[in-house]
Amino acid sequence: MPAVEAKGAAGHGIRRAVVPAAGLGTRLLPATRAIPKELLPVGDRPVIQHVAEELAANGIEDVLLVTRRGKDAIVDHFDTGAAGLGFTAVRQAEPRGLGDAVLCAETWAAGRPFVVALGDAVLSAYGQSTIAGPRPASIVARLAQAFERADAVAAIAVEAVPREQASRYGMVGAAGPAPAPGEAFEVSALVEKPAPGQAPGELAVAARYVLSPAIFAALRETPPGAGGELQLTDAIARLAQARGRVVGVRLAADERRHDVGDLGSYLRAATEFALTHPEHGAGARARASELLDGDRPG
Ligand code: G1P
Repeated sequence: MPAVEAKGAAGHGIRRAVVPAAGLGTRLLPATRAIPKELLPVGDRPVIQHVAEELAANGIEDVLLVTRRGKDAIVDHFDTGAAGLGFTAVRQAEPRGLGDAVLCAETWAAGRPFVVALGDAVLSAYGQSTIAGPRPASIVARLAQAFERADAVAAIAVEAVPREQASRYGMVGAAGPAPAPGEAFEVSALVEKPAPGQAPGELAVAARYVLSPAIFAALRETPPGAGGELQLTDAIARLAQARGRVVGVRLAADERRHDVGDLGSYLRAATEFALTHPEHGAGARARASELLDGDRPG
């Protein structure tokens, strides 16, 4: 049995987080020709530093960065640390999918539950962007608490997405009524990037997870899935089939996930952080108002 950690200030005992950052970033070319997408700035710091600060504010102490060839600059960025976290790095040899990236963490996880936070996804709550200072306990702490309370094998952050976008996400079904924003619920089905009409509901996996170390055996037994890649969602579904409890926690109404691997989402993240910046927000808002009032560059 894994040792039970004392609960910290964030109300849970999980101290380690894996941050997969080995994706190719092809949707953001040419910006990502030489710079990993995780190092693109949102405000005054790169995307992945927002992720690290979010983790530190939610009780995490140690981070494993999963990178790959050509992305060493991510490790360089954390040479001098960030937010008091310890950093370790491991490289994924081939781009074989998110499940394969998580499998790289097996030794490091040392048999204990851990967080997975995708390195290209910034989470924000309006008015509480990390740029304005450390954010209060948010989805990662709530996932960890739900995971421990339910004695689950996995806890997954989810958000509602339009049905026609289901094929871009891991899609989740709820055992009971659809959860309201912020609510925890029991997950009954998980499908990675389903074809139109095949999604078990309207809730999408939203870039943050807490996983039992049992995930590693499940990943090794899971065949390649969507896109020919080893999918984390498929391995979690396998754990659920083996009668492990999987809980979902829906993002709160004011929490947003920005996937910066997508240009539109990246621009929305940058806009949100600019508009809420303590020093420069007023100027950004004034210019935004001018643009909204019709003063467009001619
Ligand atoms: C990954 C996961 C998917 C999830 C998405 C957003 O997909 O495989 O289940 O919904 O992140 O968190 P990707 O964006 O890497 O294609």
